[in-house]
Amino acid sequence: MKRHFKMPAQIINGKKISEEIKQEVKKQAEALYKETGVVPGLAFVLVGDNPASKVYVTMKGKACEELGFYSITLKLPTETTEEELIEKIQNLNSDPKIHGILVQLPLPSHINEQKILQAIDPIKDVDGFHPVNVGKLVIGLDTYLPCTPAGIQELLKRSGINPSGKHVVVVGRSNIVGKPIANILLQKKEWANATVTICHTGTKDISYFTKQADILIVAMGKPELIKGDMIKPGAVVIDVGVNRVDDPTSEKGYKLVGDVHFESAYEVAGAITPVPGGVGPMTIAMLMKNTLQAAMNQVLTKQFSN
Ligand code: GUN
Repeated sequence: MKRHFKMPAQIINGKKISEEIKQEVKKQAEALYKETGVVPGLAFVLVGDNPASKVYVTMKGKACEELGFYSITLKLPTETTEEELIEKIQNLNSDPKIHGILVQLPLPSHINEQKILQAIDPIKDVDGFHPVNVGKLVIGLDTYLPCTPAGIQELLKRSGINPSGKHVVVVGRSNIVGKPIANILLQKKEWANATVTICHTGTKDISYFTKQADILIVAMGKPELIKGDMIKPGAVVIDVGVNRVDDPTSEKGYKLVGDVHFESAYEVAGAITPVPGGVGPMTIAMLMKNTLQAAMNQVLTKQFSN
């Protein structure tokens, strides 16, 4: 009898790939500085005291330091009003040292997220969340791509996994990950051109769809919900989840797990991203790339060419 031995899944090393991207961006930023004297500048706006948000903003600020970017962080109390926040954003819109503005989400519940995102000048919208930039993405014009989805596409590209003609199944329909990654990968462009299915909380039988995925992208915020038996053998699994779960053996009292149950998925998948060290670091690398792009757009007062 012929025996089949499964090859171990390829672990997609987001940490390593993100370091390469940051080094490339750093070099390009140095060239921009030599030519124009301009240093890319990024402003973070953090409202309230969500612990995960604080960690993310700290990590993004460190990346700015590493790459020689200018950055400032506005830390505002939970009680900040919509009007106060909009005024801060307008000041940043007119600050020539600031090329990118990032309002860390989620915002406190009394603040209308859309109103805030729409106050950001679209040319400084390095998150790609302003409706003008979302619209440009959907119709296939050049624009700032939201950082996590852009990072996923770049991970696939630098791992030699071309989504063209593949069935990509996205689990999750958030404006930050699910909707934009679906829109990016369905474009008739290189490293895209996929057949895309989106599953969400209204989907009756998620595993019916996930089992059909050549590339499965999971961004639903539910710890370890996708198990190995929901995955087609050999599929590429991209785990966007970052969930804190109790772990009394760890110093912090918690550990990070993805939306995918890694051990069982690893047995079935052809390639898989770990948590941490997969998609997470890519988000930050793409933010740096967008910020450099924003600086170039503003220095050359040359907007995207469409
Ligand atoms: N919260 C979770 N992810 C993101 C992101 O990519 N950008 C912002 N601004 N907030 C987030």
